[in-house]
Amino acid sequence: MKFIVTGGAGFIGSAMIRFLIDKTDHSVLNIDKLTYAGNLESLTPISENPRYRFANADICDADKMTELVADFQPDKIMHLAAESHVDRSVDAPGEFIQTNIIGTFNVLNAARSYFESSGNKNFMFHHISTDEVFGSLGDSGFFTEETSYDPRSPYSASKASSDHLVRAWGATYGLPVVVTNCSNNYGHYQFPEKLIPLIIMNAFNQKPLPIYGDGSNVRDWLHVDDHARALYLVATEGKPGETYNIGGKNEKTNLEVVDTICSLLDGFNPPVGDFRYKDLITHVQDRPGHDFRYAIDTSKIERELGWKPQETFETGMAKTVLWYLGNQAWCDAVSGGYSQTRLGLKSVN
Ligand code: NAD
Ligand code: DAU
Repeated sequence: MKFIVTGGAGFIGSAMIRFLIDKTDHSVLNIDKLTYAGNLESLTPISENPRYRFANADICDADKMTELVADFQPDKIMHLAAESHVDRSVDAPGEFIQTNIIGTFNVLNAARSYFESSGNKNFMFHHISTDEVFGSLGDSGFFTEETSYDPRSPYSASKASSDHLVRAWGATYGLPVVVTNCSNNYGHYQFPEKLIPLIIMNAFNQKPLPIYGDGSNVRDWLHVDDHARALYLVATEGKPGETYNIGGKNEKTNLEVVDTICSLLDGFNPPVGDFRYKDLITHVQDRPGHDFRYAIDTSKIERELGWKPQETFETGMAKTVLWYLGNQAWCDAVSGGYSQTRLGLKSVN
C-alpha cells in the first residue's frame, strides 16, 4: 500500500516511517515543512530506501496538499504534522491555530477530493491526536473514548478543533476517518524541549533540572515504538468513524520521571566525587493552566485490535537514556535554533 505521513520528520512521524519502511513492504511519502521540530537526520536509517520519498511542503498550502495527494494516490494518510509543544502554544498560539486547525482542514480537503475522484476502497484518513483534548484528571479515573472534550491550553484546544474537523468530514462527506488520542510519548529522536530528553541532556551536562511547580503532575508514558505499532494497527485495521485511545499504563509524577533518569545516569555515567545528579533538581515557576493528571483507559484498542505495549517504563527509559548518551551529535544537530531558555511563561509575565 501507499502511505502519506504528514509530519514525518518529527518525533512520532519519523518513528512511524522507520516502522513502515523497516517492518512492512509499503511505500511512504513524507510531507513535512521542516520546522524547528522537523529533522531529516531522524530518518537517516531509511532515507535511501526506494520505497521512501520526501516532499518539503507546508500543510497550510492548500493547493500543494491537493497536488501532492492527487499525485501520490495514497491508500492511507496518517496526519501527524502539528505544532506539538504546550509551552510554545502559551507564548505563540497563532502558529498552532494555523498549522493544527487550518493545516488539518487543507489535508482533509485534499483527501476528500482524491477519495471522491479515485473511489479507493482501501482509503483511510487517520488523525493522530492527543489525550490533552480531554482536559485534566484528578487523583482517580481514566480518559476513555467517551470522555467529553475539555481542552485547556492553546495547543490542546487546537488539537480538539482538528479532531472535530476530522469527524465532521467523516459524517458529512463520507470520508473514511479514524482518530487516535494518545498519552505522552518518549524515546529516541525526541526534540530536547520535551521533559524527558531535556532532563537527560541537562543532567548529563550538569545543568539544573527544571521541575514545574512541585513536580506532582502525572503523565501516562508510552514508548514511541509502541505508539507506532498501535498507529499502524489503527490505520490498517481500525473501523472508519471510530476513535481509539492509546496509552502506556505508566503513570508517573514528573518527580518520579526525573528521579528515574538520575538513577539510570548514576549507573551509565557514574558521578565523580560528591556530585549527585539529583542535586541538580530545581523547582521553577509552574506552567500556566498546568493540567494535573493524564491517564488512559486502553481497553478498546486492546480488545478490538489486540494491541499491547511491549516496553515497560523501566526498559524503555533505560534504552532512551542510553540512546541520548550515544547520540549527542543528533541533539547538537537538531538543537541549533533552540536556546534552552524557559518557554511558556509569557501569559503570566
Ligand atoms: P513534533 O513536534 O516532534 O513533530 C511535528 C512535525 O510536524 C515536525 O516534523 C514539523 O516539521 C512538522 N510540521 C509542523 N508544522 C508543519 C506544517 N505547517 N506543515 C508541514 N509539517 C509541519 O511532534 P510529535 O511529538 O512527533 O507529535 C506528532 C503528532 O502526534 C502531533 O500531531 C501531536 O499533536 C501528536 N501527539 C504527540 C504526542 C507526544 O507525546 N509527543 C502524544 C500524542 C499525540
Ligand atoms: O499527553 C500528550 C501530550 O504530551 C502531547 O500531545 C504533546 O504534544 C506532548 O508535548 C506532551 O505534552 P506535555 O505538556 O505533557 O509534555 P512536556 O514534555 O512538555 O511536559 C511533561 C510534564 O513535565 C508536564 O507536566 C510539564 C512538566 N515539565 C516539562 C518541561 C519541559 C517540567 O516539569 N519541566 C520541564 O522543563
